Amino acid sequence: MSELETLERILLADIDAAGDEGSIEAVRVNALGKKGSISELLKTLGTMTPEERQTRGAQINALKTTVADAIAARKSALKDQAIAERLARETVDISLPVRSSPAERGRIHPISQIVDEITAIFGDMGFSIAEGPDIETDYYNFTALNFPEGHPAREMHDTFFFNPDEKGDRKVLRTHTSPVQIRTMEAQQPPIRIIIPGKTYRQDSDATHSPMFHQVEGLVIDKAANVANMRWVLEEFCKAFFEVDQVTMRFRPSFFPFTEPSFEVDIQCDRSGPIVKFGEGTDWMEILGCGMVHPNVLRSGGLDPDEYQGFAWGMGLDRIAMLKYGMPDLRDFFNADVRWMTHYGFRPLDMPTLFGGLSA
Ligand code: DAH
Repeated sequence: MSELETLERILLADIDAAGDEGSIEAVRVNALGKKGSISELLKTLGTMTPEERQTRGAQINALKTTVADAIAARKSALKDQAIAERLARETVDISLPVRSSPAERGRIHPISQIVDEITAIFGDMGFSIAEGPDIETDYYNFTALNFPEGHPAREMHDTFFFNPDEKGDRKVLRTHTSPVQIRTMEAQQPPIRIIIPGKTYRQDSDATHSPMFHQVEGLVIDKAANVANMRWVLEEFCKAFFEVDQVTMRFRPSFFPFTEPSFEVDIQCDRSGPIVKFGEGTDWMEILGCGMVHPNVLRSGGLDPDEYQGFAWGMGLDRIAMLKYGMPDLRDFFNADVRWMTHYGFRPLDMPTLFGGLSA
């Protein structure tokens, strides 16, 4: 066997034996690299006679081609093999359930949802939002709203009082959102059309009462606002909020110091089933208090009752959230139980709008 045939055999055996891309590269460098065995042979071509070059030169070149082809073939085979091994090793279990993203898992609290729904409804009617402090003075919470000093209505609110300051004045945790009526009248000129969602506080705790709860107040002041306007606004609100085409409402005479006349409003419903249905049935459920703003309240807000008049209403947010979404116990709203939130909460990207649907 010629020396070239022997070299070819050895090289082809090395190529065959190379088990990974690193060792096949080593074989290539050994044979075809600058100082490789075949490269060394090629260098001798220059010293050959033309005849020698024709025979032996051709043999060396043929050897080079054979070895280079074998290396290329082995390389690609090793590459395929490596991919196949990786594919076999790195399996993906496509039967595993997809883990939801945080944005999918997060939930909007029903109270935030209800505030967004109410804002969408009244925003569409041209109302804006007003807010005030949770810690109020006795003046804004009571006096300015026509609760005389020592009037029993002050006690009816089960107020949380702060210790008196050096002047003997006691601050309170506001017992209703109504003080923001006065703050708004002081700050802006009529026409006023606002809603006031916010936290309110009373010493009370059971399945339907919590010491911290939420109300939404409404206030409309201009030169001609009247009971018929109020009735229309409240009916439109109830239809939109409970997502029904028709509601029947009943206005019962009542008393609030800050309104005259005052009403309590019931909405007709069907309470025979597990959830209350509105727009049908023969039962009544109280949902809010309202009335024409008392002249003394207008005066407290710096407005002349001979020039301006208006109406106001107040409603328990937690209560209407419970009614609309069927939660049995108010205290669960504030227990921060993730299971409750997952069940009763709302998806963060489903913003309530009148055109897209409030709670869909
Ligand atoms: N502030 C009252 C309450 O907490 C609710 C209320 C009743 C507000 C009648 C009003 C109103 O603005 O006109 O019980």
